[in-house]
Amino acid sequence: MKWHKVLNTEDVKYPFIKKVKVGNVTIALVGVENEICALAARCPHAGEDLSSGWCKDGKLVCPVHRYSYDIHTGRGNPGQGDYVDTYPVEIRKDGVYVGIKEKWGFVKKLFR
Ligand code: FES
Repeated sequence: MKWHKVLNTEDVKYPFIKKVKVGNVTIALVGVENEICALAARCPHAGEDLSSGWCKDGKLVCPVHRYSYDIHTGRGNPGQGDYVDTYPVEIRKDGVYVGIKEKWGFVKKLFR
């Protein structure tokens, strides 16, 4: 797991939804009620940008067809049959960090 700084502490003003790019991953960063969650920004229904949606009752709502995803688990509403990936978030003194698993991390460890 590699941690990436995505926001400075002074840029955190609740509530917010921001799109951040970490390597090849585009993330919808959702800040509500002094908590920050990170979800994949691409809606699995038809590929729209979830970071341009809104948050309601702990769910991120896609602005196009209004599918919604739990901000903690990424699970779609019952009946949708889909989900989005979620990522761990750490709020540190100097900012907000998102953890991304390295695809080839296990291979790198073999050669250390
Ligand atoms: S593209 Fe998101 S609900 Fe259809």
